[in-house]
Amino acid sequence: MSSGGETIGIIGAGWVGLVTGACFADLGHRVIVRDVVPERIALLEAGKVPIYEPGLAEVLERNKERMSFTLELSDVTDQADFLFICVGTPPTYSGDADLSAVWAVVDELPLLERRAILIMKSTVPAGTGEKVRSALEDRGLGHLGYASSPEFLAEGRAIEDFLHPDRIVVGSFDSADGKRVGALYAGIDAPIVYSDVPSAEMIKLASNAFLATRISFINEIANVCELTGADVEQVAEGMGLDRRIGPHFLHAGIGYGGSCFPKDVTALKQLAGNSGYHFQLLSSVIEVNELQKRRVIGKLEKHLGSLAGKSIAILGLTFKPDTNDMREAASIVLGSRLLAEGAEVKAWDPLAERDSYLHGAQICDSVLEAVTDADAAVIVTEWKELRELASETVRSAMRNPLIIDGRNLLDPDQVCAAGFAYDCVGRPGHCNTDSGKAKLSEPQAE
Ligand code: NAD
Ligand code: UGA
Repeated sequence: MSSGGETIGIIGAGWVGLVTGACFADLGHRVIVRDVVPERIALLEAGKVPIYEPGLAEVLERNKERMSFTLELSDVTDQADFLFICVGTPPTYSGDADLSAVWAVVDELPLLERRAILIMKSTVPAGTGEKVRSALEDRGLGHLGYASSPEFLAEGRAIEDFLHPDRIVVGSFDSADGKRVGALYAGIDAPIVYSDVPSAEMIKLASNAFLATRISFINEIANVCELTGADVEQVAEGMGLDRRIGPHFLHAGIGYGGSCFPKDVTALKQLAGNSGYHFQLLSSVIEVNELQKRRVIGKLEKHLGSLAGKSIAILGLTFKPDTNDMREAASIVLGSRLLAEGAEVKAWDPLAERDSYLHGAQICDSVLEAVTDADAAVIVTEWKELRELASETVRSAMRNPLIIDGRNLLDPDQVCAAGFAYDCVGRPGHCNTDSGKAKLSEPQAE
């Protein structure tokens, strides 16, 4: 790796900040990470990682001599020439991005005399950089450089994504600033897209919105497949081989979740609306996603009738596997709908924190505990532990051996042969097995 040897400040020690900081240290830079949560900084100083991200602990450990952690912004601004803003930009009630944490950082910047460069890694609406630059000028900080370098990592594979990205984007008002920021990534083998600031901001929003659009598109194809006898897995494979389409993000399921797609699609729709343009396509992408989360209820009712008093196991709570992140997870909507229907909800997840996301649900320590006496088990997150769900142990523990596979994780033939009723997403040849029949069928040996 390169030994660029710059001093980089990271403001915000969440997924993006920690991964960015650890990877820049890995590239040979000195990194100072600032957060406002004392427990977070205390954990990091003690060599512990406050989030679950595979491989992050190792990268932090091997770069501990090059990294420091602080609660004071001045520790960062006194030393670093590059100040990366990596704070959260969650949605507001209106759907706009909440930029209060970004503004808190800008407002707190001391009156630096040297020409440090402020770099926005947080996802922000196009136009934010212009507003920040104007605020900096008002504060007598107009001599600071400004760049937008959005992040494209996905949780669960964040280190790999940061160090081996498809591209790096650097937008700047001054091309020399852009080149200095681009040089920080030396050692990473990826094209750098240099652009103006609003375009860099829009590349990030448009990329997330496009990926979400693909998911809603394939989910709608899956729903039509259920009515027409086609199999969405075969359809996606056949579509994905067209190089103009490509195979990625064509996995039909229970809808997209997470801290980014739902917020960024809505934020882009809002941004367009606030600017006088009705982004009709994104309204549909959002609506399709909301309906997709709720389709499981219809499938359960098809097999079980009224859900009142029925015991339903939710298997997987996080928005995808290999993360403990519950933000906007499909399980939250599904669990709430089930509880509203009067069902008893038992939930299992290997990593999700036992907080208040699923009020009213019983959180279980094992899959077996969750499915015991259940009328149905719903796979919400494709954890590898669930690949063997269709076992004799699970079948005999359930009151009614019905599996609703929201992620098309299981092999339908094996599940049905094991004596379960089975329903999934867009694979009608295998789905819609009648529950009653499954109760009577003889299970095959495991
Ligand atoms: P996060 O919520 O995990 O972390 C944000 C951190 O910023 C928190 O630790 C918080 O305490 C800290 N913070 C808040 N105010 C601060 C301040 N004034 N000074 C210093 N620290 C402060 O958020 P995240 O998931 O890392 O996302 C950060 C940004 O990056 C968001 O805009 C998000 O959309 C974007 N993004 C996230 C991902 C992802 O996979 N999580 C990927 C790409 C882009
Ligand atoms: C996503 C993007 O993939 C990253 O490039 C981006 O940087 C990040 O958002 C962000 O801006 O924060 P992430 O949310 O971590 O990353 O997770 P993804 O792997 O993209 O999955 C998002 C959701 O889409 C999950 O709920 C997943 O189950 C769902 N999904 C994904 C599908 O339903 N089908 C697919 O084919 C792919």
